[in-house]
Amino acid sequence: MKNRAETSGIEQKSAPPAGGQGFVRLEGVSKRFGDVVALHEATLDVRRGEILTLLGPSGGGKTTLLNLVAGFLLPDSGAIHIAGQPVTEVPPYRREIGVLFQNYALFPHMSVAANVAYGLRMRRLPRPEIARKVAETLALVRLVGLENRTPRQLSGGQQQRVALARALAISPKVLLLDEPFSALDKNLRGSMQLELKEIQRKLGVTTIFVTHDQSEALSLSDRIVVLSEGRIRQVGTPGEIYRRPTERFVASFVGDVNVLRARLEEVDGEAAQIAIGAAKLAVPAGTLRGCAPGAPVELFIRPEQLRLAETGDETACEGVVSAHSYQGGHVDLHLASEAAVSGRILMRWPGTEAIARWPVGTRIAVACAGTEAVAFPASPS
Ligand SMILES: Nc1ncnc2c1ncn2[C@@H]1O[C@H](COP(=O)(O)OP(=O)(O)O)[C@@H](O)[C@H]1O
Ligand SMILES: [Mg+2]
Repeated sequence: MKNRAETSGIEQKSAPPAGGQGFVRLEGVSKRFGDVVALHEATLDVRRGEILTLLGPSGGGKTTLLNLVAGFLLPDSGAIHIAGQPVTEVPPYRREIGVLFQNYALFPHMSVAANVAYGLRMRRLPRPEIARKVAETLALVRLVGLENRTPRQLSGGQQQRVALARALAISPKVLLLDEPFSALDKNLRGSMQLELKEIQRKLGVTTIFVTHDQSEALSLSDRIVVLSEGRIRQVGTPGEIYRRPTERFVASFVGDVNVLRARLEEVDGEAAQIAIGAAKLAVPAGTLRGCAPGAPVELFIRPEQLRLAETGDETACEGVVSAHSYQGGHVDLHLASEAAVSGRILMRWPGTEAIARWPVGTRIAVACAGTEAVAFPASPS
Protein backbone atom coordinates (compact mmCIF):
# COMPACT_ATOMS: atom_id res chain seq x y z
CA MET A 1 0.00 0.00 0.00
CA LYS A 2 1.87 3.00 -1.32
CA ASN A 3 -0.22 5.53 0.53
CA ARG A 4 1.22 4.19 3.77
CA ALA A 5 4.69 5.33 2.82
CA GLU A 6 4.40 8.47 4.90
CA THR A 7 3.95 6.40 8.05
CA SER A 8 7.57 5.27 7.96
CA GLY A 9 9.74 6.64 10.71
CA ILE A 10 8.49 7.51 14.16
CA GLU A 11 7.50 11.10 13.83
CA GLN A 12 4.39 13.16 13.76
CA LYS A 13 3.12 13.16 10.27
CA SER A 14 0.08 15.38 10.44
CA ALA A 15 -0.29 18.83 9.05
CA PRO A 16 -0.47 21.58 11.66
CA PRO A 17 -4.01 22.37 12.71
CA ALA A 18 -5.75 25.25 11.02
CA GLY A 19 -6.27 28.57 12.74
CA GLY A 20 -3.55 28.13 15.38
CA GLN A 21 -5.89 26.10 17.55
CA GLY A 22 -4.96 23.13 19.65
CA PHE A 23 -3.66 20.01 17.98
CA VAL A 24 -6.30 18.23 20.02
CA ARG A 25 -9.30 20.41 20.66
CA LEU A 26 -12.32 19.77 22.85
CA GLU A 27 -15.22 22.16 22.59
CA GLY A 28 -17.95 21.99 25.20
CA VAL A 29 -17.59 18.24 25.56
CA SER A 30 -19.93 16.63 28.10
CA LYS A 31 -20.40 13.03 29.14
CA ARG A 32 -22.90 11.59 31.60
CA PHE A 33 -23.31 8.13 33.00
CA GLY A 34 -26.87 8.00 34.30
CA ASP A 35 -27.04 10.72 36.94
CA VAL A 36 -23.28 11.20 37.10
CA VAL A 37 -21.82 14.04 35.07
CA ALA A 38 -18.41 12.54 34.37
CA LEU A 39 -17.35 15.51 32.25
CA HIS A 40 -19.07 18.88 32.11
CA GLU A 41 -18.65 21.12 29.05
CA ALA A 42 -14.91 20.65 28.79
CA THR A 43 -13.18 23.06 26.45
CA LEU A 44 -9.48 22.45 26.04
CA ASP A 45 -6.68 22.92 23.53
CA VAL A 46 -3.78 20.52 23.63
CA ARG A 47 -0.82 22.09 21.83
CA ARG A 48 1.11 20.23 19.22
CA GLY A 49 4.06 18.38 20.73
CA GLU A 50 3.34 19.12 24.38
CA ILE A 51 2.83 16.83 27.35
CA LEU A 52 -0.43 17.90 28.88
CA THR A 53 -1.34 16.23 32.16
CA LEU A 54 -4.84 15.70 33.48
CA LEU A 55 -4.49 15.87 37.25
CA GLY A 56 -7.20 15.35 39.79
CA PRO A 57 -8.67 13.08 42.42
CA SER A 58 -10.15 9.71 41.58
CA GLY A 59 -13.55 10.05 39.96
CA GLY A 60 -12.73 13.52 38.62
CA GLY A 61 -13.31 12.62 34.97
CA LYS A 62 -9.73 12.10 33.75
CA THR A 63 -10.22 8.66 32.21
CA THR A 64 -13.51 9.77 30.70
CA LEU A 65 -11.80 12.69 28.95
CA LEU A 66 -9.06 10.38 27.64
CA ASN A 67 -11.59 7.82 26.41
CA LEU A 68 -13.47 10.56 24.59
CA VAL A 69 -10.28 11.64 22.79
CA ALA A 70 -9.46 8.01 21.98
CA GLY A 71 -12.99 7.42 20.70
CA PHE A 72 -13.82 4.65 23.15
CA LEU A 73 -16.64 6.86 24.40
CA LEU A 74 -18.95 9.18 22.47
CA PRO A 75 -19.71 12.59 23.98
CA ASP A 76 -23.30 13.54 24.77
CA SER A 77 -22.55 16.99 23.43
CA GLY A 78 -19.64 18.99 22.12
CA ALA A 79 -17.01 18.36 19.48
CA ILE A 80 -13.51 16.92 19.36
CA HIS A 81 -10.90 17.82 16.72
CA ILE A 82 -7.54 16.20 16.13
CA ALA A 83 -5.06 17.90 13.80
CA GLY A 84 -7.78 20.23 12.59
CA GLN A 85 -10.15 17.41 11.64
CA PRO A 86 -13.43 16.72 13.40
CA VAL A 87 -13.20 13.20 14.89
CA THR A 88 -16.31 13.07 17.03
CA GLU A 89 -17.81 10.49 14.66
CA VAL A 90 -14.53 8.75 13.79
CA PRO A 91 -14.03 5.28 15.33
CA PRO A 92 -11.00 4.72 17.60
CA TYR A 93 -8.91 2.66 15.17
CA ARG A 94 -9.09 5.45 12.59
CA ARG A 95 -8.01 8.22 14.97
CA GLU A 96 -4.35 7.14 14.85
CA ILE A 97 -3.93 7.36 18.57
CA GLY A 98 -1.49 5.42 20.75
CA VAL A 99 -2.88 4.41 24.12
CA LEU A 100 -1.25 3.12 27.25
CA PHE A 101 -3.96 2.55 29.77
CA GLN A 102 -3.68 1.29 33.33
CA ASN A 103 -5.46 -1.93 32.46
CA TYR A 104 -4.26 -2.22 28.89
CA ALA A 105 -2.48 -5.54 29.30
CA LEU A 106 0.11 -6.96 26.95
CA PHE A 107 -0.78 -10.12 25.04
CA PRO A 108 0.75 -12.70 27.39
CA HIS A 109 1.48 -15.42 24.82
CA MET A 110 3.03 -13.12 22.25
CA SER A 111 6.68 -12.17 22.23
CA VAL A 112 7.77 -8.62 22.94
CA ALA A 113 8.30 -8.08 19.20
CA ALA A 114 4.87 -9.46 18.33
CA ASN A 115 3.24 -7.24 20.94
CA VAL A 116 4.91 -4.17 19.49
CA ALA A 117 4.10 -5.27 15.93
CA TYR A 118 0.42 -5.79 16.72
CA GLY A 119 -0.91 -2.39 15.64
CA LEU A 120 1.25 -2.40 12.52
CA ARG A 121 -0.07 -5.82 11.47
CA MET A 122 -3.63 -4.59 12.01
CA ARG A 123 -2.80 -1.75 9.65
CA ARG A 124 -1.48 -4.27 7.11
CA LEU A 125 1.92 -2.69 6.67
CA PRO A 126 4.43 -4.64 4.57
CA ARG A 127 6.50 -7.11 6.61
CA PRO A 128 9.90 -5.45 6.15
CA GLU A 129 8.43 -2.17 7.27
CA ILE A 130 6.90 -3.80 10.34
CA ALA A 131 10.25 -5.37 11.22
CA ARG A 132 12.02 -2.06 10.80
CA LYS A 133 9.52 -0.13 12.93
CA VAL A 134 9.54 -2.76 15.67
CA ALA A 135 13.34 -2.64 15.84
CA GLU A 136 13.33 1.16 15.83
CA THR A 137 10.71 1.40 18.56
CA LEU A 138 12.32 -1.23 20.78
CA ALA A 139 15.60 0.66 20.52
CA LEU A 140 13.79 3.84 21.54
CA VAL A 141 12.45 2.26 24.73
CA ARG A 142 15.75 0.42 25.37
CA LEU A 143 14.46 -3.13 25.00
CA VAL A 144 16.86 -4.34 22.33
CA GLY A 145 17.79 -7.97 23.01
CA LEU A 146 14.47 -8.82 24.66
CA GLU A 147 12.48 -9.21 21.41
CA ASN A 148 11.75 -12.90 21.87
CA ARG A 149 10.76 -12.89 25.51
CA THR A 150 7.16 -13.06 26.60
CA PRO A 151 5.76 -10.42 28.97
CA ARG A 152 5.97 -12.87 31.88
CA GLN A 153 9.75 -12.98 31.47
CA LEU A 154 10.02 -9.21 31.99
CA SER A 155 10.05 -6.93 35.04
CA GLY A 156 7.17 -4.55 35.66
CA GLY A 157 9.13 -1.60 34.26
CA GLN A 158 10.11 -3.54 31.16
CA GLN A 159 6.50 -4.57 30.58
CA GLN A 160 5.44 -0.92 30.72
CA ARG A 161 8.14 -0.09 28.18
CA VAL A 162 6.77 -2.78 25.87
CA ALA A 163 3.30 -1.30 26.24
CA LEU A 164 4.73 2.14 25.50
CA ALA A 165 6.54 0.74 22.44
CA ARG A 166 3.32 -0.85 21.24
CA ALA A 167 1.54 2.49 21.56
CA LEU A 168 4.33 4.36 19.75
CA ALA A 169 4.99 1.85 16.96
CA ILE A 170 2.06 3.08 14.90
CA SER A 171 3.49 6.65 14.87
CA PRO A 172 0.38 7.97 16.55
CA LYS A 173 -0.78 11.53 16.11
CA VAL A 174 -1.54 11.62 19.80
CA LEU A 175 -0.27 9.53 22.70
CA LEU A 176 -2.68 8.90 25.57
CA LEU A 177 -1.38 7.57 28.87
CA ASP A 178 -3.70 6.73 31.77
CA GLU A 179 -1.81 6.42 35.08
CA PRO A 180 0.78 4.25 33.32
CA PHE A 181 3.25 4.10 36.20
CA SER A 182 0.93 3.88 39.18
CA ALA A 183 1.69 0.18 39.78
CA LEU A 184 5.46 0.71 39.81
CA ASP A 185 7.47 1.39 42.96
CA LYS A 186 8.59 4.93 43.66
CA ASN A 187 12.15 4.74 42.26
CA LEU A 188 11.12 2.96 39.11
CA ARG A 189 8.24 5.38 38.64
CA GLY A 190 10.70 8.28 38.81
CA SER A 191 13.04 6.83 36.21
CA MET A 192 10.15 5.86 33.91
CA GLN A 193 8.87 9.44 34.12
CA LEU A 194 12.24 10.78 33.01
CA GLU A 195 12.47 8.22 30.25
CA LEU A 196 8.99 8.95 28.98
CA LYS A 197 9.73 12.66 28.87
CA GLU A 198 12.93 12.02 26.93
CA ILE A 199 11.16 9.79 24.40
CA GLN A 200 8.28 12.21 24.06
CA ARG A 201 10.71 15.07 23.38
CA LYS A 202 12.59 13.02 20.82
CA LEU A 203 9.40 12.18 18.93
CA GLY A 204 7.57 15.44 19.54
CA VAL A 205 4.36 13.47 19.87
CA THR A 206 1.43 15.35 21.36
CA THR A 207 0.77 13.59 24.65
CA ILE A 208 -2.06 13.57 27.18
CA PHE A 209 -0.99 12.00 30.45
CA VAL A 210 -3.36 11.17 33.29
CA THR A 211 -2.34 11.00 36.92
CA HIS A 212 -3.75 11.62 40.38
CA ASP A 213 -0.19 12.12 41.65
CA GLN A 214 0.60 15.81 41.89
CA SER A 215 4.37 15.41 42.05
CA GLU A 216 4.28 13.28 38.89
CA ALA A 217 2.23 16.00 37.20
CA LEU A 218 4.54 18.80 38.34
CA SER A 219 7.69 17.05 37.16
CA LEU A 220 6.48 15.64 33.84
CA SER A 221 4.20 18.19 32.26
CA ASP A 222 4.46 21.15 29.94
CA ARG A 223 1.01 22.08 31.15
CA ILE A 224 -1.42 20.71 33.71
CA VAL A 225 -5.19 20.57 33.63
CA VAL A 226 -6.69 20.19 37.08
CA LEU A 227 -9.96 18.29 36.90
CA SER A 228 -12.39 17.52 39.67
CA GLU A 229 -16.03 16.50 39.67
CA GLY A 230 -16.04 16.52 35.88
CA ARG A 231 -14.96 20.14 35.63
CA ILE A 232 -11.75 21.75 34.46
CA ARG A 233 -10.59 23.83 37.42
CA GLN A 234 -7.41 25.36 36.03
CA VAL A 235 -5.07 25.00 33.08
CA GLY A 236 -1.50 26.21 33.40
CA THR A 237 2.18 25.40 33.50
CA PRO A 238 3.32 23.45 36.55
CA GLY A 239 4.69 26.72 37.97
CA GLU A 240 1.40 28.54 37.45
CA ILE A 241 -0.62 25.73 39.00
CA TYR A 242 1.69 25.52 42.02
CA ARG A 243 2.40 29.20 42.55
CA ARG A 244 -0.76 30.87 41.33
CA PRO A 245 -3.75 28.58 41.82
CA THR A 246 -6.96 30.33 40.82
CA GLU A 247 -9.26 28.10 42.83
CA ARG A 248 -9.30 26.97 46.40
CA PHE A 249 -9.51 23.35 45.24
CA VAL A 250 -6.37 23.65 43.10
CA ALA A 251 -4.49 25.38 45.91
CA SER A 252 -5.24 22.56 48.32
CA PHE A 253 -4.92 19.63 45.91
CA VAL A 254 -1.54 20.47 44.43
CA GLY A 255 1.35 20.49 46.89
CA ASP A 256 1.48 21.08 50.63
CA VAL A 257 -0.10 24.30 51.72
CA ASN A 258 -0.84 26.23 54.91
CA VAL A 259 -4.18 27.93 55.21
CA LEU A 260 -3.86 30.92 57.53
CA ARG A 261 -6.48 33.35 58.76
CA ALA A 262 -5.79 36.83 57.42
CA ARG A 263 -7.53 40.08 56.51
CA LEU A 264 -7.95 41.95 53.25
CA GLU A 265 -6.60 45.50 53.55
CA GLU A 266 -7.10 46.90 50.11
CA VAL A 267 -7.32 46.04 46.46
CA ASP A 268 -5.13 47.99 44.08
CA GLY A 269 -5.73 46.90 40.53
CA GLU A 270 -4.40 43.38 40.08
CA ALA A 271 -2.89 43.17 43.56
CA ALA A 272 -4.53 42.82 46.95
CA GLN A 273 -2.85 43.73 50.24
CA ILE A 274 -3.32 41.09 52.90
CA ALA A 275 -2.54 41.54 56.58
CA ILE A 276 -1.54 38.51 58.55
CA GLY A 277 -0.53 39.43 62.10
CA ALA A 278 1.99 42.23 61.75
CA ALA A 279 3.02 41.08 58.28
CA LYS A 280 1.72 42.38 54.98
CA LEU A 281 1.64 40.46 51.75
CA ALA A 282 0.60 41.31 48.20
CA VAL A 283 -1.40 38.57 46.49
CA PRO A 284 -3.27 38.43 43.17
CA ALA A 285 -6.62 40.19 43.51
CA GLY A 286 -8.45 37.90 41.08
CA THR A 287 -9.36 35.30 43.68
CA LEU A 288 -10.81 37.92 46.04
CA ARG A 289 -13.41 39.53 43.81
CA GLY A 290 -16.35 40.72 45.85
CA CYS A 291 -14.37 40.93 49.09
CA ALA A 292 -14.50 44.26 50.89
CA PRO A 293 -11.51 45.79 52.69
CA GLY A 294 -11.46 44.45 56.24
CA ALA A 295 -13.03 41.14 55.22
CA PRO A 296 -11.57 37.94 56.64
CA VAL A 297 -9.67 35.95 54.03
CA GLU A 298 -7.70 32.72 54.01
CA LEU A 299 -4.13 32.91 52.91
CA PHE A 300 -2.79 29.81 51.13
CA ILE A 301 0.94 29.80 51.58
CA ARG A 302 3.46 27.01 50.86
CA PRO A 303 5.72 25.62 53.60
CA GLU A 304 8.84 26.97 51.86
CA GLN A 305 7.34 30.47 51.89
CA LEU A 306 7.46 30.59 55.70
CA ARG A 307 10.43 30.99 58.01
CA LEU A 308 11.36 31.78 61.55
CA ALA A 309 10.84 35.46 62.36
CA GLU A 310 14.09 37.11 63.32
CA THR A 311 14.73 40.44 65.01
CA GLY A 312 13.26 43.18 62.85
CA ASP A 313 10.92 40.80 60.99
CA GLU A 314 7.22 41.29 61.06
CA THR A 315 5.69 38.26 62.71
CA ALA A 316 2.85 36.74 60.74
CA CYS A 317 1.80 34.35 63.46
CA GLU A 318 3.04 32.12 66.25
CA GLY A 319 2.99 28.41 66.75
CA VAL A 320 4.22 25.70 69.08
CA VAL A 321 6.32 22.87 67.68
CA SER A 322 4.24 19.70 67.86
CA ALA A 323 6.32 17.28 65.77
CA HIS A 324 9.29 16.91 63.47
CA SER A 325 9.32 14.71 60.46
CA TYR A 326 12.74 13.81 59.09
CA GLN A 327 12.61 13.63 55.28
CA GLY A 328 16.24 12.95 54.43
CA GLY A 329 17.18 16.18 52.72
CA HIS A 330 14.94 18.34 54.88
CA VAL A 331 12.88 18.36 58.05
CA ASP A 332 9.17 19.08 58.16
CA LEU A 333 8.34 21.05 61.26
CA HIS A 334 4.73 20.84 62.42
CA LEU A 335 3.38 23.67 64.55
CA ALA A 336 0.13 23.96 66.43
CA SER A 337 -1.26 27.42 65.74
CA GLU A 338 -4.54 29.25 66.11
CA ALA A 339 -3.70 31.24 63.02
CA ALA A 340 -4.13 28.18 60.83
CA VAL A 341 -7.59 27.10 59.77
CA SER A 342 -6.66 23.46 60.45
CA GLY A 343 -4.84 24.41 63.68
CA ARG A 344 -1.58 23.22 62.15
CA ILE A 345 1.24 24.89 60.25
CA LEU A 346 3.86 23.09 58.19
CA MET A 347 7.34 24.60 57.77
CA ARG A 348 10.28 23.09 55.97
CA TRP A 349 13.97 23.24 56.86
CA PRO A 350 16.89 22.04 54.80
CA GLY A 351 19.22 19.62 56.61
CA THR A 352 18.49 18.27 60.09
CA GLU A 353 19.30 21.28 62.25
CA ALA A 354 15.66 22.06 63.01
CA ILE A 355 15.17 18.95 65.16
CA ALA A 356 17.73 19.95 67.79
CA ARG A 357 17.15 23.66 67.47
CA TRP A 358 13.40 23.71 68.04
CA PRO A 359 12.37 20.76 70.18
CA VAL A 360 8.72 19.84 70.60
CA GLY A 361 7.03 22.46 72.77
CA THR A 362 9.11 25.41 71.56
CA ARG A 363 7.06 28.48 70.73
CA ILE A 364 8.25 30.11 67.54
CA ALA A 365 7.32 33.24 65.62
CA VAL A 366 6.69 32.74 61.94
CA ALA A 367 7.38 35.24 59.17
CA CYS A 368 6.58 35.15 55.48
CA ALA A 369 9.78 34.34 53.63
CA GLY A 370 8.46 34.84 50.14
CA THR A 371 5.81 36.79 48.38
CA GLU A 372 4.15 33.86 46.67
CA ALA A 373 0.79 33.17 48.17
CA VAL A 374 -2.82 33.38 47.16
CA ALA A 375 -5.88 34.24 49.18
CA PHE A 376 -9.54 33.28 49.00
CA PRO A 377 -12.56 34.65 50.82
CA ALA A 378 -12.79 32.98 54.24
CA SER A 379 -15.08 29.98 54.11
CA PRO A 380 -18.16 30.48 56.28
CA SER A 381 -17.76 28.40 59.44
N1 LIG B 1 -18.71 3.33 32.44
C1 LIG B 1 -19.17 4.04 33.46
N2 LIG B 1 -20.40 3.86 33.97
C2 LIG B 1 -20.87 4.61 34.98
N3 LIG B 1 -20.17 5.60 35.58
C3 LIG B 1 -18.93 5.83 35.15
C4 LIG B 1 -18.36 5.07 34.07
N4 LIG B 1 -17.11 5.54 33.84
C5 LIG B 1 -16.92 6.54 34.73
N5 LIG B 1 -18.01 6.72 35.51
C6 LIG B 1 -18.15 7.74 36.56
O1 LIG B 1 -17.77 8.98 36.03
C7 LIG B 1 -17.00 9.73 36.95
C8 LIG B 1 -15.63 10.04 36.36
O2 LIG B 1 -14.92 8.81 36.25
P1 LIG B 1 -13.45 8.72 35.63
O3 LIG B 1 -13.42 9.46 34.36
O4 LIG B 1 -13.11 7.27 35.58
O5 LIG B 1 -12.59 9.47 36.73
P2 LIG B 1 -11.01 9.44 37.01
O6 LIG B 1 -10.34 8.77 35.86
O7 LIG B 1 -10.64 10.88 37.17
O8 LIG B 1 -10.82 8.68 38.28
C9 LIG B 1 -16.96 8.90 38.21
O9 LIG B 1 -17.98 9.34 39.06
C10 LIG B 1 -17.21 7.51 37.72
O10 LIG B 1 -17.79 6.73 38.73
MG1 LIG C 1 -9.09 7.05 35.85
